[in-house]
Amino acid sequence: MLELSFPGQAGRWGLRRGSYRWEGRPHQHRIGLGFEGTGACYPAAGQGGPPRHREGTRLIKYLGSKRLLVPLILERVEALGGARTVLDLFSGTARVAHALKERGYVVHANDHNAYAAALGTCYVGAERRRWQARAERLIAELDALPGRPGWFTDTFCKRARYLMPRNGARVDAIRTRIARFSLEPELEAIALVSLMEAADRVDSTTGVQMAYLKRWAQRAGNRLTLRMPRLLDGSGSASCLEARAAAERFEADVAYLDPPYNQHSYLGNYHVWESLVRWDKPPVYGVAMKRADVRERPSPFNRRRQIEVALEEVVGALRVEFLLVSYSDEGFLDRERLVAILARRGPVEVIEIPYRRYVGARIGIYNPRGEKVGVPGRLTNREYLFVVRCAAGRIRSARRPA
Ligand SMILES: C[S@@+](CC[C@H](N)C(=O)[O-])C[C@H]1O[C@@H](n2cnc3c(N)ncnc32)[C@H](O)[C@@H]1O
Repeated sequence: MLELSFPGQAGRWGLRRGSYRWEGRPHQHRIGLGFEGTGACYPAAGQGGPPRHREGTRLIKYLGSKRLLVPLILERVEALGGARTVLDLFSGTARVAHALKERGYVVHANDHNAYAAALGTCYVGAERRRWQARAERLIAELDALPGRPGWFTDTFCKRARYLMPRNGARVDAIRTRIARFSLEPELEAIALVSLMEAADRVDSTTGVQMAYLKRWAQRAGNRLTLRMPRLLDGSGSASCLEARAAAERFEADVAYLDPPYNQHSYLGNYHVWESLVRWDKPPVYGVAMKRADVRERPSPFNRRRQIEVALEEVVGALRVEFLLVSYSDEGFLDRERLVAILARRGPVEVIEIPYRRYVGARIGIYNPRGEKVGVPGRLTNREYLFVVRCAAGRIRSARRPA
């Protein structure tokens, strides 16, 4: 680990290097994966950044994860006064939804990707008291299986280098057994999340599944080992819908929106998890072995020309009393445009959180000779949190998110 000093605190960054081909050309990438590959480094608590929040041991790598913003989001939801139900429309890792559920809110987590819906079902939908004991037994049984190479090993560990083949063989054996059991959705989601997180701990990537490291990452040599996800007591639910459909279907006191803000598709970046969760063994393409349907399942939020209308439709469809929206100043829409869209629902408050960008942006991209190619971009950015008190629609939990 490399220690760097940031204003007000020392931050920890893991520095990784890797060689890969990008658009046919070889490159070396050095990327900082501190803060779980969020690409963001927030200032310390009490220094203009959100207060600290301990989440436990779950450390899945996910771009745009709001782990470090969770305390601020919790604080703002609590300040709304009296809210009981929350709809997280772009739930990703489900970290925000999980933290809200832990605070006693009835939460519904939605994301249009199957792997994220599995995370939502496990961390928000599954009730600890009901599933903990069975899930522990299941995970122990799955973890004891001997490896057996199959489609996953061949596709991602021999034709590509996502995991070492012996760990790929464990994925094949465990995933095949999960499919054979035909489990209830919550139990299946817990097992799948345990497997996804285990793979993430021993992968050989720079944090996304667009390309793999030329030389195996050190952690890739560790044994893929299942752990029990941290379930919570309380009610919650999850869905795998387009944001617009979920906005139309579910009511809540508060909606939290954290849409993608640029052209990088989450399905493309996390296609291995999608294939692992769906287990549909799809046709694949390219060096990363992406699912063919990555090309056919775009999100309007990844399109500069579509995001504005898509966001307007979602915001207009929501039946909520309050809206919280996360966005970055690096995104397709600027602050003024966002305020204009949100102001149709009611008065908008804007909170700005400055952050330093990921180390890759600071160090740059290198060619195979170690020469810097291209100029690093901006070194600091801002994350916005918009809070809207909606003029119409005092719902007061008339109907819980289902
Ligand atoms: C910035 S991430 C959310 C991160 C999340 N708040 C967290 O802390 O992990 C955006 C999420 O939106 C999802 N997404 C993208 N387009 C979507 C759409 N049209 N409908 C629903 N979800 C979508 C992606 O799969 C991704 O997980």
